[in-house]
Amino acid sequence: MTSATPHDMSYADYLDLETLLSAQHPLAQPPQHDELLFIIQHQTSELWFKLVLHELRSARDLIGADELPAALKRLARVKHVQATLTGQWSVLATLTPSEYAKFRDFLATSSGFQSVQYRAVEFLLGNKNPDMVRVFDSEPQWRDLLTEMLHEPSLYDVFLQLLARRGFSLPAEVTDRDWTQPYVASDAVLQVAREVYSDPETHWDIYETCEELVDLEDNFQQWRFRHLKTVERIIGSARGTGGSSGVPFLRRALELTFFPELYAVRGDIANGVSHR
Ligand code: HEM
Repeated sequence: MTSATPHDMSYADYLDLETLLSAQHPLAQPPQHDELLFIIQHQTSELWFKLVLHELRSARDLIGADELPAALKRLARVKHVQATLTGQWSVLATLTPSEYAKFRDFLATSSGFQSVQYRAVEFLLGNKNPDMVRVFDSEPQWRDLLTEMLHEPSLYDVFLQLLARRGFSLPAEVTDRDWTQPYVASDAVLQVAREVYSDPETHWDIYETCEELVDLEDNFQQWRFRHLKTVERIIGSARGTGGSSGVPFLRRALELTFFPELYAVRGDIANGVSHR
């Protein structure tokens, strides 16, 4: 880091470009032209994950403080970042199987599966999984970050608490659950969702927040899907560097949901199920 004062600070100083631009270390021998793309695609994703985490944590705190409009502003930004993250798969899709094969062995067992920030975003959105913390046993700073996130309520947990404060009937097993455990769909929450969706005008800000959450989940799934399809065109049916089955493993993640009741209520509406 430089010690420049605001008066003599340059663009490169402010952004610490020396650090940023010297952080790409291709490993292939002989050097492979396409490895830089692979590294930058991951690094830019990690930078965006960092911003997503920053915004989602803030959104969660704002919801906890009953400041829904400000929280929605945060989520609007997250949605644009997600769109950027999803769009950038098309850059990596220019990497052909033969190009990737020239440096794949040099990645050894490293894999996006070990992205602590990705896991932290999943935790923040409610996909808690204590087993994921163990992935970082040999990297204490990442393990500690993830352990902290595991013990904190997710964005959804905090939103459900807000619903309870607004007078909706929700049991303690929803509003005061063990945050370290995966969220389990609740009939009480579905009932609240039915109430909200049957009368949007009365519950407008809640209704709008529910729809923002669905947008977030939808965007997340778009990212997962584009990852899967890009991986499929690059490695086909081969196993991942992290040791998983590869594409079949990634396909299973498409079954995950962060906000189950917000999807269940859609089926109810389509089937004409009333909230009473
Ligand atoms: C050639 C490019 C890529 C290939 C072949 C690839 C392949 C895979 C595979 C096979 C997995 C499953 C775990 C494993 O066995 O390794 C995985 C997981 C993952 N990858 Fe990629 N990946 C690529 C690029 C990226 C990029 C650019 C990112 C951006 C950060 C990324 C992020 C992730 C994440 C977060 C997971 C964990 C997903 C989960 O657990 O649901 N990958 N990748």
